[in-house]
Amino acid sequence: MRLNNKVAIITGAASGMGIGEAIRFAEEGAKVVIAELEGTQAIAEKIKGFGGEAIAVSVNVMKTEDIKNCVELTDEIFGPVDVLINNAGVFDQYAKSLDTAIDQWNFFLYINLTSIFEFSNAVLPGMIERGTGSIVNIASIAGLVAGKGGAAYTTSKHGVIGYTKHLTSEYARYGIKINAICPGTIETPLVKDFLSNIPKVLVPTHTFGTTEQVSVLALNLASDEAHFMSGAIVPIEDGFTVQ
Ligand SMILES: NC(=O)c1ccc[n+]([C@@H]2O[C@H](COP(=O)([O-])OP(=O)(O)OC[C@H]3O[C@@H](n4cnc5c(N)ncnc54)[C@H](O)[C@@H]3O)[C@@H](O)[C@H]2O)c1
Repeated sequence: MRLNNKVAIITGAASGMGIGEAIRFAEEGAKVVIAELEGTQAIAEKIKGFGGEAIAVSVNVMKTEDIKNCVELTDEIFGPVDVLINNAGVFDQYAKSLDTAIDQWNFFLYINLTSIFEFSNAVLPGMIERGTGSIVNIASIAGLVAGKGGAAYTTSKHGVIGYTKHLTSEYARYGIKINAICPGTIETPLVKDFLSNIPKVLVPTHTFGTTEQVSVLALNLASDEAHFMSGAIVPIEDGFTVQ
């Protein structure tokens, strides 16, 4: 098993890509922590149903206290955190800058970017001490180019990429892998209302992605198979951004 006994926290794991990652990781032997607003118990039960190990922890990634509690609880129940998947995110529905109020801007930036800073800082000391660990940040193609989200979403995802690179420059030397995944359009609840407006012809293969495809990549980056991989910004989008 590729994540045997590894302890993995996955934020936003009660929907979309987070569910895919939680189930895939548990199938590969990880002890999974579903860190989510609500709906956590159902995913944890599903994992236990096939003999996997999982706990559900109610976490609002906008709350420092929730993040601290989640890491402490994980340590108590499963042991130190080996893997953090910063997956929780919100979409701004392509809102232009002039149509984005300051409180909306702060909301998107906080959940999509600041929470990654907070969660990473909560697990990094333990990873540094043990000389091992993997942090995978779910960015987006909206972090690579303009026009794949609104002003706040695009800025937040560019920030995730910058932060991933910066963290690598600071902590890769301690044996910690820090990478980012940039999915193209993946069929999840986040984008279900917009799928019909995103022309498949923009993707050379004329398809959207699946949560399973993203979870396979996340699994690789979380595992010990990802040799010599840190600070990588990995698109998974079938050529959406090549033109
Ligand atoms: N679906 C896509 O096409 C796509 C493309 C590129 C990047 N992404 C990114 O992938 C990640 C997962 O997206 P998804 O498509 O699976 O979306 P989703 O809406 O299905 O899942 C996102 C999860 O994040 C959780 N979340 C939101 N705010 C939270 C908070 N304050 N505290 C804790 N959890 C919170 C939600 O409850 C939800 O379960 C996001 O970061 C998103 O920006 C998605």
